Amino acid sequence: MPVKILWYVQSADGPVPWTEDGVWANDLPRLRALAQGIDRAGFYGALLPTGPHEPLALAAALAPLTEHMRFLVALYPGLLSPAKLVDIASVIDNFSGGRLLFNVVNGHDAWLPEYGMFLPHDERYAYSAEYWDAFARRWADPGEGYEGKHIKLAARTFDIPLTYFPEKVQPRVPLWGAGGSPAGVAHAAQVVDSYLAFADLPDRLGGKFREVAGIAAGLGRSLSFGTRFQVIVRDTEEEAWAYAQSLLERTPYAKAVELSAYKAGPGWLDRDQDTDDPRALRCVDALRAGRLPDVQDLVVHPNVWLGPSVFGFDVFGPGAGTWLVGTPAQVAERINEYAAHGTESFILSGWPLLQEALRFGRDVLPLLDVDHGFEVRPYDGSSDAELLAAFPEVDDPSVPGGRRTPAAHR
Ligand SMILES: Cc1cc2nc3c(=O)[nH]c(=O)nc-3n(C[C@H](O)[C@H](O)[C@H](O)COP(=O)(O)O)c2cc1C
Repeated sequence: MPVKILWYVQSADGPVPWTEDGVWANDLPRLRALAQGIDRAGFYGALLPTGPHEPLALAAALAPLTEHMRFLVALYPGLLSPAKLVDIASVIDNFSGGRLLFNVVNGHDAWLPEYGMFLPHDERYAYSAEYWDAFARRWADPGEGYEGKHIKLAARTFDIPLTYFPEKVQPRVPLWGAGGSPAGVAHAAQVVDSYLAFADLPDRLGGKFREVAGIAAGLGRSLSFGTRFQVIVRDTEEEAWAYAQSLLERTPYAKAVELSAYKAGPGWLDRDQDTDDPRALRCVDALRAGRLPDVQDLVVHPNVWLGPSVFGFDVFGPGAGTWLVGTPAQVAERINEYAAHGTESFILSGWPLLQEALRFGRDVLPLLDVDHGFEVRPYDGSSDAELLAAFPEVDDPSVPGGRRTPAAHR
């Protein structure tokens, strides 16, 4: 099955961005170079998550600097009126030639009140369904009003000639979206075109997708499916695992424990663990003994690794921070295995973002059967020097642009 491969654009970057001395801040020159690298390397697009560089604004800034890539903009429904979102999105749609997509995310009860959103978790999903209905109607007709439970928009009463509006390229903005809870799944089945779930084992992820597909089919809808991974691609398997090992070594113990609490909750190491999986228990024992787990104890499937990441460090199973580790052929084979279980889109990141995007574009994309809607020419490395000039040197010769050895620099 052909796949779509997306990359990732965010404010925090660097070789080990979950550590204090391995993180860089991205500014406009770097974000521009990153987007242009993603574009030239042939990715379908990039996910712009919620974060300090507001992703709608970022998409508007970067779209005219690129040609093919789509901007998958994460959005919490309700922070902008759907009518105002139509105004902004139609400019980006027009200026980018139809390359705007939304990633509908529900976020966390603790984060949203600062933006004025006080609805609790499940109610936000119900609100979102109405929000996107209002958005779609206003997109189709810029004068139309809306009368919902939460959302009311007056119909236009003064006359603006239709020709003054930016011409919309897409008949509707495709909605991608996540949501693992029952309310999230019900919302996705009703609202999104492409359902995203964090990484899992290939068959379990396929099972989740079949469950969501079944609920959507009951509503007469058909969805596509995607997931999210981080990647380490090196010329040999030994180099790839040596790099994974170096990421573990560069993660301070206290940081590893902090990241592990993202999912398991604070103080989880002191509690009894509800698992009899010897692999996971060896990881728990290591952390209790004050050290990081062995690199191999974090492998849960060929080339699938639970290493530390910006998104957490979950030693029990795959999730937000899971990695694919291997040679270009192995990573392509793994992507194809996930594709055989129903995953059609892969949102990937390696660190630093640009350096690893260029490598992936050069070494892995040509091995995949991609459906990107444009001709993907193999990336030949010719933009490396120009694009990497905006970034610090990386202390690893196996990373494009890297000039020193990790050992000499650690
Ligand atoms: C691929 C992917 C990307 C996500 N991006 C974001 C994001 O940018 N911002 C955010 O707050 N949550 C993001 N989420 C998390 C979702 O908002 C949501 O919390 C998660 O899917 C859990 O859903 P649930 O609350 O229904 O269990 C993302 C989830 C996935 C699978």
